[in-house]
Order: sequence, then structure tokens, then C-alpha cells
Amino acid sequence: MASLKFTFNGREIRAEPGDTIASALAKAGILELGRSLKLGKPRGVFCCSGYCFRCLVTVDGVPNVRACITPVRDGMVVTSQGGSRLRAALIQMLDKVGFTSPQFYFEKLHLPFTAAAAATELFRRAVSGAELPPPAGCELKAGSCEVDAVVVGGGAAGLAAARVLAEAGLSVVLLEEKPEPGGMLAKVGFIQELGCSGGKLADEMVKEAVQAGAEVKRGMLAYAVEGNVLYAVSEAEAVKFKFRGLILATGVHELPRAFEGNYLPGVVNVDGFMTIVNRWGIKSFSSVALLPPPAEGRSWHLLAEKVAQEAGIEAVKVPEGSAAVGRGRVTGVRTPSGELIKVDLLVAPGRLVPALELAKLLGFRGGELSGGACEIRSRVYVAGLAAGAGSVLDALRGGEEAGKLLAEELGA
Ligand code: FES
Repeated sequence: MASLKFTFNGREIRAEPGDTIASALAKAGILELGRSLKLGKPRGVFCCSGYCFRCLVTVDGVPNVRACITPVRDGMVVTSQGGSRLRAALIQMLDKVGFTSPQFYFEKLHLPFTAAAAATELFRRAVSGAELPPPAGCELKAGSCEVDAVVVGGGAAGLAAARVLAEAGLSVVLLEEKPEPGGMLAKVGFIQELGCSGGKLADEMVKEAVQAGAEVKRGMLAYAVEGNVLYAVSEAEAVKFKFRGLILATGVHELPRAFEGNYLPGVVNVDGFMTIVNRWGIKSFSSVALLPPPAEGRSWHLLAEKVAQEAGIEAVKVPEGSAAVGRGRVTGVRTPSGELIKVDLLVAPGRLVPALELAKLLGFRGGELSGGACEIRSRVYVAGLAAGAGSVLDALRGGEEAGKLLAEELGA
């Protein structure tokens, strides 16, 4: 029974504890979350995991909040962002004279200073779909703490690493950006080799890590690292973690594909599809279209088929060159031969790239890693899918291995 209420563009929406804004809206049949700034085209969730930024909304006056990973709070006021058709026309006109190019913005608007500040504000208001809130004092609680090890990422690798480190008697903090840990493990559905669902295993792994003594911080984004200090922020606090060892189990990002209609709400990547079905529990689609895997690199296209099959959703494989069609959301796919197939979603498998932003801040300049556990600097490991693991079980093993190696290095 839904026990939370919030409004979206003035309409009352009910949600259950654990719902994110986007999951509650999707359950209410709302896929269009806003409009693109420039062309005013409809926008909806795509990755459902916090890295594509297609789901930005304004929450209680604060713009650019990711609806897919922001939990619903009772009474919150959510509004769409994005351009109206009038705004789109204005931006296209400004575009023609070069006003919206980054070069113009950065080079021409910064002198003299006072004029630049006023012009910047005007420019922001002209192109932004959201009203910026007035500058406010920082209300975050600031803190710092010293720990033996920080693990970034609460998927299979991160949870395994945190447990191993804690069992070795080390103080460990695991930071997970999303409201709940589990990562890809919690989305893959039934795991044949283990005879249980990934979601159940993820829940058990969280319990084991906590029982071993690891602290699991949910909704906390690790955004920078320098030397042996990692900076993280949540809605409530900003924390500086001084660590002796670090494990980056930051997973992979699935890139978007270029095809006609790819902007429509209802076009998702495999990550988004798995999240909608296995994390948000929405299985009421009569059929989904699956594009072929990308020409290069790893992809999760086989997982998309498996998840659809387990959920009893008809998956129609459509050829490369197919286009998404619909007004406001996907309602069908037009194949290159002109056939129109009715579907509720279109799943576009993208190339997987490791999320190595934090590793790069530490000077890592290598290419793709392999093996599931790699030391990129003394006492700093990349583990799991980010380190080239081919499956969630390989990621789990990679996390365990990285945890053991780091524990040894830390003298535990
Ligand atoms: S960031 Fe929310 S859908 Fe991708």
C-alpha cells in the first residue's frame, strides 16, 4: 500500500518507501519527465542508474536532481525541467549567431566582471528550463574521518571487498551513490550457477559486510580523490575520508546509441531496462523491442533477453537501423523495411565503458583493465566490472581478491 505522496507538475503521485522519483512516476504511467533544453523534445529515464543525466527534475526548488536515484520524500514538490517550444525557438535563433557556443560563453562573457555576472545570469535563465534557487548558505554538515580502507561502489565487487577487509579487522567505509547498494548484481535476475536471484544475493552480501563491521553509506557520492583523501557528499553531509587503502569498485557505464528517435521516453539502455524490471519491479509491458548489440566492445544485450524472458515480457528483436516512433513516448519501432511494430519500450544495448573517473584523478592513464582486480597505485585497487570482470560473479571474485590483497598490504 502506497504510503508516501508527492506532486509532479501539480499532479499528486503516490509512492512506496524505497521508490525513487522516477520509479514512482513510471509506476503511475509517467515516462516523460521533462523536455530537452535546446529543442524542447521529450525526455525520460535512460540508464536509471545515475550516469546519463536524462532524468533531471526540480525538487522543492532545487534544479538538476536525478529522478532515477533520488528517493521519494513525503510531500516533495517535483517539477519538470526543459525548454518550451518558445524557448527552443529562442535558443536555436541564438545558436545561429553563435551565442550559445561554449567559446562565446566562456571567452566573451567574463569581462568586465560585473557585466559578465549579469550576462551569465541572463544567459542561464534564457537557456535553463529550471529557475535557479537564490544562493543559500551551505546547510551540509561537514566532517572528516580516518579509516583503514574506503570502498567506492556497492555492487558485487564493492560489497565483497568491504566484507573481506572488515573480516580482516580493518575499519572500512563503503560509499554507494544510489539509495540502495547491490549495483548490477541486484538487477541481473536469477543466477543459474547459484540457484538464487541476484537481488537476494545482494541483500545477503550487504548484511554480511555490515555484520563483519563495514559501514555502508547509502546515497553518498564520492566525487574527488587526492593523495590519500577522498571527498564525498550526500544530501545531509560532506565528508573528507582519510584512508590508508582504497578500492574503486565503480562499475561500468553503458553508452547511448545514435538512431532515429533515440531521445524518446521509453528508449532505455540495458542497464535501464534491468533496473526498471528487477529493481523497480515494473513488469507490466506487453512487449519490448531489442536492438542488436553495438558493433564493438562488450555489451549486456544477452542479459536484456534473459531479464525479459524471466519477467514474461515479449522481447522482439529488431534490426539495426530501426527507429523509435511515438509522440511523448515510444509506442512503436519502424524497421528499415518500413514495418511498424507496436512496443512499450525500446532497449538499445550500448558499449560498456569502465567508470574510471576517480582512478584518473589519481593519475591512472591506462586503457581498459582486465582480470577483475588491478592495483593502479600503491594500496589503490580497481575491482569488479570496472577492472574488466565479465560477469557479476567474476566481479564478486575480483572484489574479494582486491580486498585480500589490500588487507595484506595494510598489514592485517
Ligand atoms: S541519470 Fe537518471 S536516467 Fe540516467
